[in-house]
Amino acid sequence: MSMHASVADRHVAYSIPEDVLAGLTASQKSIPSKYFYDAEGSRLFEAICELPEYYVTRTETALLGQVAEDIAAFVPQDATLVEFGSGSSTKTRLLLDAAPQIRRYVPIDNCRDAVEHAAQMLRERYPRLAVSPLVHDFTQPVRLPAAAARSPVVGFIPGSTIGNFSPDEAVEFLRNARAVLGPGSKFAVGADLAKPAEVLIPAYADDQGVTAAFNKNVLTRLNREFGADFDLESFEHLSVWNSVASRIEMHLVSRRQQRVEIGGWVLEFEPGETIHTENSYKHDPAAFADLAERARWRVAASYLNPSPAFGIFLLAS
Ligand code: TRP
Repeated sequence: MSMHASVADRHVAYSIPEDVLAGLTASQKSIPSKYFYDAEGSRLFEAICELPEYYVTRTETALLGQVAEDIAAFVPQDATLVEFGSGSSTKTRLLLDAAPQIRRYVPIDNCRDAVEHAAQMLRERYPRLAVSPLVHDFTQPVRLPAAAARSPVVGFIPGSTIGNFSPDEAVEFLRNARAVLGPGSKFAVGADLAKPAEVLIPAYADDQGVTAAFNKNVLTRLNREFGADFDLESFEHLSVWNSVASRIEMHLVSRRQQRVEIGGWVLEFEPGETIHTENSYKHDPAAFADLAERARWRVAASYLNPSPAFGIFLLAS
């Protein structure tokens, strides 16, 4: 690294984002989960999706393949498909194949590279589809392109993305999505469902340690981007099933008493003390319907995979 680059790095180290500092200085320490997804984090998450223990991606892809025709029956002629947190748009293709009446696709994602790469790939594969990506935080209000706003609109959010929101945040997200999609829209939402802890825990703590590497990568990122000095060997990955809140919790456990410096702050860790890094809520179908109704959506159809339990819900506004 050149002198110049290291000076620049040190400068960055002094501006720790407010949300990182607030999380790390609270009595239950935490790091906002959005910091997982740097280049290495995104690569590790793709690797998680291939793990035998991580049933989520495989189950949803299979279910979507089975029900795409049924969902397509809800999609009006010349519709616009709007995807929230589209990433690589892999699952989208199942819907586009089943519903050729979709005229336009609007992927919304924070990551410019991912969304532009996916847009290019889809333009090549579906030459008659207009692709209009929006680089934007998909949880925030956004205005659809004018042509999209004039057409019938169908929203899509696959993955267990919605499970990473608390119930109140999920309602807020669903309300915001309803405003983005507009009156008369439909919304296809994939949600992982509650199931036995024996299945859930390994999905978030695999044998090969890929999930552990993904979880710990957030510390590597804080070291690199904000000049923190986390010792990776001194933290251990933990996934626990919180049955009261109906969620998997991810933590990083301090193996010993230690101090960590970040941006001039000194963080004290007791042995066994944790940094809470993520929640993944697993609702049952009735609880999910309740969240949707609180956001003034109606569940028009539910497609449920019995085991491992997974749901795709077709909402109508
Ligand atoms: N959205 C994914 C999920 O909750 C994210 C995820 C998978 C994850 N494995 C993880 C997040 C491990 C933190 C740690 O299923």
